[in-house]
Formats: sequence, structure tokens, C-alpha cells
Amino acid sequence: MSPPVDGRASRDVAGRNGLAPETRALRAFAERFGGDAPLVVHAPGRVNLLGEHTDYNEGFVLPMALHLGAWIALRPRADGRVVLRSLDFGEEQEFDLGRLHRGQGWIEYVKGTAWAFQEAGAALRGWDGVVTGDVPIGAGLASSAALEVAAARAFAAAADLPWQPVTAARLAQRAENGWVGVQCGIMDQLVIAAGREGHALLIDCRDLTTRPIPLPPGTVVAVLDTSTRRDLVDSTYNERRARCEEATRRCGVRSLRDLSLAELEQRAPALSDDHLRLARHVVTENARTLAAAEAMTRGDAAALGALMDEGHRSLRDDFRVSSPALDAIVAAAQGAPGCRGARMTGAGLAGCAVALVDEDEAAPFVAETERAYRAATGLQATVHLSRPRAGAELRRR
Ligand code: GLA
Repeated sequence: MSPPVDGRASRDVAGRNGLAPETRALRAFAERFGGDAPLVVHAPGRVNLLGEHTDYNEGFVLPMALHLGAWIALRPRADGRVVLRSLDFGEEQEFDLGRLHRGQGWIEYVKGTAWAFQEAGAALRGWDGVVTGDVPIGAGLASSAALEVAAARAFAAAADLPWQPVTAARLAQRAENGWVGVQCGIMDQLVIAAGREGHALLIDCRDLTTRPIPLPPGTVVAVLDTSTRRDLVDSTYNERRARCEEATRRCGVRSLRDLSLAELEQRAPALSDDHLRLARHVVTENARTLAAAEAMTRGDAAALGALMDEGHRSLRDDFRVSSPALDAIVAAAQGAPGCRGARMTGAGLAGCAVALVDEDEAAPFVAETERAYRAATGLQATVHLSRPRAGAELRRR
């Protein structure tokens, strides 16, 4: 039997209570607040096929929205209070839109989104809600951006604001930068807000234009979870971003996106080894991302896979955000049947890798990747097979 696409292919992991997250949120809403929730918002997680650590350098990225995501069942309130129960954290939090104070934990992504909307002049309304999801937290699949964009969709729906994906993505990014304190780029929030069913999005992070790019026919994307975790709120992400900015200044350009590899090499004497390596990753990754979009457009799985393999080497050796577990799972995948290419994905240092796999070989691919990864590390991987899904959605009930 072939493993389910848009599902966990790993056999030993079962969904919580066997219920879909949306159903869990709706049932819990009725129990906690009474009556049916009139609105449900959904925001997917994402996996990035190519273009890592390029977004905050005004470069190119090629992510796709996943079948995993965050769901909020909600009912607008007459006042400015937000009362939100999280099924995954097993707790309820509330705050007043008129008096936002920084605190700790998952609610800050929701509060920060409200803060960003209000800073931009939006008149928000409160709501009661229940949130749940199935994006693994801290795994590099943008669980926090999914929560921010779901919150953005909830605030927009409750206050009858028009839904504008690019504006919402910018506000969600502002929540993360200005409230949570992670200086992330726009990739996660934008693909989560604006993703297209069946397509990855080529995003130009300078002007935020997007182009939908189909997956090569006969292939499926495998998300390979190493089961290792790291929090983005730690300092290394912000530090690397600051070092890229320093490299940009020393190169005398607006952003690293404006340099070819030859032009970067001419500037090498002005750079430390560390700055040169970081910049070289960004410059070559931009070129790989554009080449990958072209390869996908002509349905060339072999070329896309080769670019993914190269991308991993660059993240490992130049940008240095891989880890022994990520290297092991990438090697395991690359040696498995049907694999066209594999690389770590997301910010790195832990979490997930991504592979492009021939659909016909998905079952042996999953079995062999899990086996080889376990043999190399003693750890159990979880594999999710996915096709690109749509971005954030609102359902009125
Ligand atoms: C995280 C950030 C993104 C991006 C990636 C690395 O996911 O949120 O903005 O920088 O890391 O490509």
C-alpha cells in the first residue's frame, strides 16, 4: 500500500484522538464557550524547497504551504477582550486590545499580531476562540508564523476588515520582529497568507511579488522531521542576520541580492572569512532558487533535486546552520529509493529536512529513510508526504 500524501507516512505516529484539528477546535469551542463558533480560520505551516536565509537579504525563496496547520474556531465579542484557549498547550490566556502588555509563551504571537494591526491603525474587536494545530513546534515548519497568520485572519474576520494577504503577511512579520523579537524575514508569513494549491511560490523578497510554480509531475514533497528541536527566539538567528547586514555594508551594496558570485569574489579582501562564507551562501542560493523555479516550470525533477542537494552543502559548509541530525537525515534520504534531492529546510540547526521524491517510490523511500536515519543516529524520524496547499482561509459557518 502506498503511504498517504498529505499525511504522516511514518507508521508509528497517530493523530491526537484521531480527530481532525478543525473538529477538535469546534468541539472544544462549544464546550468552553457554549454554542457554535460562527467562524473558523486556518493557516498552514510551510516547507521551503529552496532559498534559505535569503529573504532578509532581499533575495528569492521558493516555499510551499503544507497540509499541517493551525486552526482557530472563534466568535466575535462586543468588547475588546480576546479569550483564547489552546488545546495544544492545555491552557487559556486572555488580554485586552486596549491594554497590551508583553508576556511570555504562545499567546505573544496572537497579542503581537493585534499590536501590529493596531499600530497600522486598524480598529479591532475582541473574540472568544479555541486554537489547535498539527504543525510540530520548533521543527522549522513555521508553526509561529502559522499562529500569527491565523490570528491575523481571525482579527480581520472579527472586525470585518478586508483580507489582503500581502498586508497581513507584513503585519504578522511585524508582530514577530517588533513584539516577539525575532528579526525573521517575510517568507513564512507570506507563503502562509498567499500560498496557492498545487504550487510553490517563488517570492521576490525585495518587492514581494509572487509567482506560483507547480511541482514536477509525478513527484511529491517529503518533510523529514529529525525529531530534534531548537527555538528561533534564541540569539543565533538574529546574530546571523546581523552578520549578513555587516557583510552587505562591507560589500557596499544595498543587499547581497545585488551581487553575482564574481562580484562578491572581487570584494573578498574587504570581508572576513566568516562574512565571505555567509555572503557566498546567500549569493549562490539566490541563483539556485531562480534556477529551481525554472526547472520546476519545465517539469525537470532531476535538475530541481540536484539544486536541493547543492543547497544543503551550502547551508552546511558556508552558512553553517545544519546539524549532525540534519546531515544524517539528508544523507539517509539521498540514499533512499526515488529520491531526487534533499536538504535541510527552514532556519536550521535542528528540525526538518525536505526531499523531492518520485511518487511511485514514496513507500520504499519513507521506509529506507527512517531505517538509515535510525541506524545513523538512534533517533526516530517522522516523515510527512505533502503536496502544496492553499494559504490562510476563513470559513463562515
Ligand atoms: C525562518 C524565518 C524566515 C527565513 C528562514 C530561513 O523560517 O522565519 O524568515 O529567514 O528562517 O530561510
